Amino acid sequence: MRPTRAKDHPATAPPQPATAAPVASPAPGREADDEQGHGRAEERPAAGGPLPAGPAEVRRIDADVPGAVGRMLDHVLTERLRRARLADPLFAREVAERVAGFTLEGGKRRRAQLVWWASRACAGPDPASAGAALRIAAALELLQTCALVHDDVMDRATLRRGRPTLHTDLTAEYADRVGAGRAERFGQSAAVLAGDLALVWADDMVAETPLAPWTGVVVRRLWSDMRTEMVAGQYLDVQGQVTATRSLPRVLRAARLKSALYSVERPLALGAAVAGADEVTLRRLCEAGRCVGMAFQLRDDLDDVFGDPRRTGKACGGDIREGKPTYLVAVARERAEATGNGAALAVLDRWLGDPALTRHGLDEVRDVLVTTGARATVETRVDRLAAQGLRHFDGAVLDAEGAGPLRALLLATAGAGQYGGEASPRPRTADGPCAAGAGGGAGSGR
Ligand code: IPE
Ligand code: MG
Ligand code: MG
Ligand code: MG
Repeated sequence: MRPTRAKDHPATAPPQPATAAPVASPAPGREADDEQGHGRAEERPAAGGPLPAGPAEVRRIDADVPGAVGRMLDHVLTERLRRARLADPLFAREVAERVAGFTLEGGKRRRAQLVWWASRACAGPDPASAGAALRIAAALELLQTCALVHDDVMDRATLRRGRPTLHTDLTAEYADRVGAGRAERFGQSAAVLAGDLALVWADDMVAETPLAPWTGVVVRRLWSDMRTEMVAGQYLDVQGQVTATRSLPRVLRAARLKSALYSVERPLALGAAVAGADEVTLRRLCEAGRCVGMAFQLRDDLDDVFGDPRRTGKACGGDIREGKPTYLVAVARERAEATGNGAALAVLDRWLGDPALTRHGLDEVRDVLVTTGARATVETRVDRLAAQGLRHFDGAVLDAEGAGPLRALLLATAGAGQYGGEASPRPRTADGPCAAGAGGGAGSGR
């Protein structure tokens, strides 16, 4: 297959962006040692990160994309931490270092990999596209930190990536000193700030990514839309929770906004955009991402109830305890209502949104999700979405070197066949699942 070539990239690696010194820091080359803690660090302009210089280096990154993203993050965050320490050492230690640590430890780097491989599939081993893709990929990981840290406060989650969530960690650290109640409130407030910091750093990275003028316009627009969509989706999620709004179109819309878009569709679009992909290719990838992104979130909803915390890194049943408006629960309720299954409705009414959800209660809800057929319906839908996404993907004209890994990544992201026993998505059947509601959603192992 022929690659879609980047149109407006410079032939050489992009220039390293210079960043302005923080307001309170000393002038370049001068030392300051005042009692505000503005330290002895020398001011140097920040480098843009370890960018690939030629096609051979691009191919070396192919072999370990998460590793390359990690090195880029390490480079950028070292500089950010240095500047955070100049601003205030306590803040740097308790907030900025937590943000950096969470981001560097990372998850699967799924979104970052989607950006990278979409760029590779559209531009081939073009170093300028690859360099920009790597930076946007790393920025997405920081955005993900913001999303998760805030999400865990909103969802009152205690476990993330197998560890205490940022707000519970801070709460525990302060509990002895200030008392449990005040520490809890403090932990949440600090996590709001930590998420803000991650978002600011993510935006900085995008702003500092050298892009040709038109590419820059497209990328910044996508980035802006993606952030707004995610916030809108999270709002629909918590609003639906508090008002018990669970119509199927509404829950699908929330899932698409809060997760499918920023987890899959937009990362693909960003990768394609930095590669200067044409309209048709961009559209095909977005269609693929819409389906796969929805599959990703529907699987995340299944994982919340049926998943193994050792695999998901999250506690089980949080969505039930919080009364989250998930597609899984919405289907169960609709089925129970349609068949006059009062016992199933009673179980849902009893436990959904109960902060004291017990193991027995969760088992009862699981039974209802199985006996109403909701679990099977969602599993089937995940498989169909995966198959449909791949059909869209296969309609795009892409560089073969990037297309293969991107296809495999999309398949893994969709998580098809994990529950129903199918190893790969079955061929297309009936309804067009991507069209349901307003689109897609997000998933497990973020
Ligand atoms: C979170 O959705 C979406 C964002 C982080 C924007 P969930 O609340 O379902 O995600 P998990 O299950 O906590 O990972
Ligand atoms: Mg959550
Ligand atoms: Mg949530
Ligand atoms: Mg979830």
